[in-house]
Amino acid sequence: MGRLSKKIAVVTGAARGLGRGIAEKLCQEGAHVIIVDLNEEECQKVVAEFTEQDYQASAFPANIADHDEVSQLFTGLIQEFGTIDILVNNAGINRDVTLHKMSIEQWRQVIDVNLTGTFHCTQEAIKIMREKQYGRVISISSASWLGNFGQANYAASKAGVVGLTKTAARENATKGITCNAICPGFIDTDMTRGVPDKVWDQMVAKIPMGRAGSPSDVGNVVAFLASDEASYVTGEVINVGGGMVL
Ligand code: NAI
Repeated sequence: MGRLSKKIAVVTGAARGLGRGIAEKLCQEGAHVIIVDLNEEECQKVVAEFTEQDYQASAFPANIADHDEVSQLFTGLIQEFGTIDILVNNAGINRDVTLHKMSIEQWRQVIDVNLTGTFHCTQEAIKIMREKQYGRVISISSASWLGNFGQANYAASKAGVVGLTKTAARENATKGITCNAICPGFIDTDMTRGVPDKVWDQMVAKIPMGRAGSPSDVGNVVAFLASDEASYVTGEVINVGGGMVL
């Protein structure tokens, strides 16, 4: 029996990268994990791989930036599972460019997914969690929330996630619901593999532990925050970055 057995956990952006690693860890802890991502086939692929390992997982494709799709997603989840216990807001994108060159589309795309998408999912989950007086909301912000060159849109969205998390924590603290944010540093995923080799080396050189993180480094902290062991932890922002932000 894992720490999360009998729990229903929703992980957004779980078809690859950090989200997939987080979903795998929650499965290992015994949760039934809902794989949410844009592409149905990609979601089903993860479910098939997890099922082969005797994990419990289901695919529910949705675009978290779309209010109606998120609303339908949660209606579907309630119909199928009756409840949800854990929400991990992980889906995110970047459109890096310096502020003076940033288009309004690049600004909007990032805010719509990273911040408004997190709002959509958190609001739907909180409604369900308030009724049952239990819930765990864990949102993936970023070390970049403090500001980062070429990331005005991304940093603003991730700072917004921190503000949203702290507000949700305050509003729901007496309802058995905890809301926390994790700020990964530099994690080895498709998103970071997109940078040139020179930038990769520069990023790793800034990390006291001398290596990029892995999705499981983040998944381990998510699993703790989702567990009963973290029931007195709310409104926190936890860096998982090998000492990158000290
Ligand atoms: P990734 O690009 O490898 O994976 C992101 C996943 O989210 C993809 O499967 C994608 O299809 C999905 N997604 C994107 N837009 C979506 C939408 N509108 N609706 C549903 N799903 C959507 O990225 P990675 O690296 O795994 O990042 C995951 C999260 O961690 C993001 O929020 C990112 O900002 C954050 N993060 C990543 C860091 C890193 O070093 N990789 C560092 C700090 C934060």
